[in-house]
Amino acid sequence: MIALGSDHGGYALKQEVIQYLKEQNLDYRDYGCDSEKSCDYPVYAQKVAKAIVSGECDRGILICGTGIGISIAANKVKGIRAALCHDTFSAQATREHNDANILAMGARVVGPGLALKIVDVFLHTEFSNDERHKNRISQIED
Ligand code: RB5
Repeated sequence: MIALGSDHGGYALKQEVIQYLKEQNLDYRDYGCDSEKSCDYPVYAQKVAKAIVSGECDRGILICGTGIGISIAANKVKGIRAALCHDTFSAQATREHNDANILAMGARVVGPGLALKIVDVFLHTEFSNDERHKNRISQIED
């Protein structure tokens, strides 16, 4: 199950992501926001982060204008590794090396074509399970 969240700046791109997930038959839950009316990104970062640490969802996608605020906020929740990615190389690397559980993007930074490619890579790349990376992740947790 994929948890989705955005603020007003990310709302339109989130709708594109929803369309893409539907086409791929991937299950998702949308934790808001629900329109382009101005709202506060930490609220939705926290909802998605909590859905992941509670086990309700496996991975998350968070979108705001830049992806910066919403990723900073999500990373305050213990157990969350939110990666801000605007290219497919980073999306692949953060899954393989960091076992990132949230992808953050900025709707004012990337267009929908690239964003959906990034989503695709993020969702279809597994963690390497390499001891070096596991050790570094446990250092982050500590
Ligand atoms: C909202 O205007 C904007 O600040 C927000 O979407 C995000 O870019 C913050 O990091």
